Amino acid sequence: MKTIIEPFKIKVVEPIRMTTREYREEMLRKAGFNVFSLHAEDVLIDLLTDSGTAAMSAEQWAGIMRGDESYAGATSFHRLYNKVAELTGFEHVLPTHQGRASERILFEIMAGPGKVVPNNNHFDTTRANVEASGAKAVDLVIDEGRLVASRHPFKGNMNVERLEGLFSEVGAENIPLVMLTVTNNSGGGQPVSLENIRAVRDVCQKHGTPLFLDACRFAENAYLIKKREPGCSDRSVPEIVREMFDLSDGATISAKKDGLVNIGGLLLFRDGELARRARNLSIMTEGFPTYGGLAGRDLEAIAQGLEEVVQEDYLHYRLRSIEYLSEMLLAGGVPIMEPPGGHAIYIDAASFCPRIPPERFPGQAVVCALYRHAGIRAVEIGSLMFGGHGRAPELELVRLAFPRRVYTQSHVDYVGEAVLDVFAQRDTLRPLAIVEEPPQLRHFTCRLEEIGD
Ligand code: F0G
Repeated sequence: MKTIIEPFKIKVVEPIRMTTREYREEMLRKAGFNVFSLHAEDVLIDLLTDSGTAAMSAEQWAGIMRGDESYAGATSFHRLYNKVAELTGFEHVLPTHQGRASERILFEIMAGPGKVVPNNNHFDTTRANVEASGAKAVDLVIDEGRLVASRHPFKGNMNVERLEGLFSEVGAENIPLVMLTVTNNSGGGQPVSLENIRAVRDVCQKHGTPLFLDACRFAENAYLIKKREPGCSDRSVPEIVREMFDLSDGATISAKKDGLVNIGGLLLFRDGELARRARNLSIMTEGFPTYGGLAGRDLEAIAQGLEEVVQEDYLHYRLRSIEYLSEMLLAGGVPIMEPPGGHAIYIDAASFCPRIPPERFPGQAVVCALYRHAGIRAVEIGSLMFGGHGRAPELELVRLAFPRRVYTQSHVDYVGEAVLDVFAQRDTLRPLAIVEEPPQLRHFTCRLEEIGD
């Protein structure tokens, strides 16, 4: 059969409210041209993030009822522990309230002033937590990872020579751990190959340095390995997932992505001493180590989500719908990050509207146009998010991130049509200027205004 169907049927529906262009125009103005300030009910298709936005399955909701809320040693923790240990092989499993809590604990025990932490690309909370410990965060993604149109199959890979170079430059004693983000969200949701994880692991072993995965999207990474890496097409996804984790010494995971839940995280270790120190810290801010800032019912939902996320029917449908949208956009000439990764389409806004210079926020102009035209909420990842204070990001991107199991084929077609329409009218997109801005993380709360050319 040619058509790939959603491998689920819908038991509960959440209506979305149709709005008119005039209404959206008014809402956009009220929100200061910042889509973070919109009310979600005024958004028709919400592609702001794939984090915490998944639809849970009937089995996950059943797990919510089964949740054991005991303060210590809850049955739900043991169910989660067994699932994580089976999937990853790690002996020490700490639940946390979300990914960044795992990061804070990890870098507090392992990093610190004078240390350097390499990653393919740090996600922004990962970088913030490395820096908050006093350490320096260094991004070592391969050159192809920075080229929007390169069709390298593993644009999330780390440049191993540059990693070796960093070890020689700063000394192994100053690199407490090496991290790989799978898939590489800040670099366009691009996967990392097993070959690259092995090569990075070899460098780490040579220097006696542990390798950690930022494994929020581990299942999507494993499926892209199955599809793209020579010799992997006959292997099962759980087998590939296990090899990714076997090559590393620990992991931080935001369960809000491939955990298929709305809240939760994990911090995983092979080493007992590191785990002991992490547990002691976790008790101060997350909670007793068998619940770590979550309710027992959340632990059940994560355990079940981890079982469902490695099912190949699900991953096939998920990755194909992203690929399908990318084909539709490329056929219409829309510049996007190629090939698409696992969770999102990244539009290259600099080529989409070359008339608008970085300081007038071409990405945000595309974001505003998508909302105005079709009620779609995307997010700018460019000069608005990362610029200011003398910084200039390399790329001007707009991310359309797809919540898991939430939207259907016709929603995807609608999004494709909307982007093509906005692309056809790209000469009418308006430059923007910031009129109010907070001292940090300005993209969340700043207000903007459209200005004349
Ligand atoms: N690491 C990566 C690669 C992420 O994408 C995220 C979150 C985190 C860590 C932090 O996890 O949100 O549970 O604390 N990414 C979301 C996004 C917010 O929209 O891409 P968290």
